[in-house]
Amino acid sequence: MLAGKRILLIIGGGIAAFKALDLIRRLREDGAQVTPVLTSAGEQFVTPLSVSALAAQKVYRDLFDLNDEAEMGHIELSRAADLVVVAPATADLMAKMAQGLANDLASTLLLATDKKVLLAPAMNVRMWQHAATQRNVATLTGDGILFVGPDEGQMACGEFGPGRMAEPMAIVAAVRTALATGPLKGKHILITSGPTHEPIDPVRYIANRSSGAQGSAIARALLALGAKVTFVTGPVVAALPDGAQIVQVETAAQMHAAVMDALPADAAVFAAAVADWRVVSASDSKIKKDGKGKLPVLEFAENPDILSEVSHLAAARPGLVVGFAAETDDVIANATAKRARKGCDWMLANDVSPETGIMGGSENAVTLLSADGYETWPRMKKDAVAQKLALRIAAELADPKTVLV
Ligand code: C5P
Repeated sequence: MLAGKRILLIIGGGIAAFKALDLIRRLREDGAQVTPVLTSAGEQFVTPLSVSALAAQKVYRDLFDLNDEAEMGHIELSRAADLVVVAPATADLMAKMAQGLANDLASTLLLATDKKVLLAPAMNVRMWQHAATQRNVATLTGDGILFVGPDEGQMACGEFGPGRMAEPMAIVAAVRTALATGPLKGKHILITSGPTHEPIDPVRYIANRSSGAQGSAIARALLALGAKVTFVTGPVVAALPDGAQIVQVETAAQMHAAVMDALPADAAVFAAAVADWRVVSASDSKIKKDGKGKLPVLEFAENPDILSEVSHLAAARPGLVVGFAAETDDVIANATAKRARKGCDWMLANDVSPETGIMGGSENAVTLLSADGYETWPRMKKDAVAQKLALRIAAELADPKTVLV
């Protein structure tokens, strides 16, 4: 998806610099060309040799390297890229940027560039939370600088909290979003996918046969059209969509919280097969046979209906809400009633009776129901369904609405 894109990657000095090596690999796998710049502090963590070997390019390190000036001056270097990425972006580099300092190669390139800049901060949690750093983040955001992360978690220094550099694939996703050119550029689309697991006890749970294949395919198709995708997924066997912001959950309650957290969105597609019920009080220890033939009785409570709740939001309702109706009989009648009940704009209905092989299979046969009526699409691969749906969503979100299919 980044084929032919040129990334100028500035590697700052921090333990997270080791992840920059993986980032180079991931960017190149995605088709990008990576020109690396290593700060002198960055060199304390990764060697110029490993950086250049992975990038298959010369590493730029010194502002006053006359050879470089003869070959390519710093102004040209800062502008020859489509995007400048700083990973890890240290507190020091961010402070320099916020002040407009240019006293080494990295800061000079950042001041001289006319391209978008994406920062992946990495630092100790106290440094990240320090008022000075937060002031600099606000200044840089105001200057139009893009950020990915930092994540929260265990840090190399032993502390816990925000400050970990975003994972390489999340940075790749942010790079794709920053360079997006398709009809969904600038649009944020939320997708739920996969089954949920509702615990009975620590080793048992209630699940369903959803593979997550259709949800992943929809995410990929929307990403290909330039959307920023948040993908909230239950435990799945299908490959997760590279390039999406992925939020992994287990239960319906967790999926509900993750969806609410991800709003606002321009559109939301609810492809998950959410469990309708959860066990009221899952046991903390494994339920044992009592040896006398007495069977355990499970009490169920209804899970939140995420689709219905989002469809009925007064504020922050996505402009387009799409649900799925997996039915085993009277597909159109049931899906029509379900669309009205749930309050979504579009309902994609499909017949999941075992003989169709749709649940967990590679094909799908759907009918799209909207306020305008319904249309039945021929049976096709889930990828093709996803592409058709993505184009429809792009046409719906376009201003003015266009017909793309
Ligand atoms: O009611 P039913 O489960 O058939 O509705 C299916 C649609 O509703 C799907 O789009 C599914 O993702 C969504 N749903 C939901 N939360 C639930 C149950 C279903 O978002 N608890």
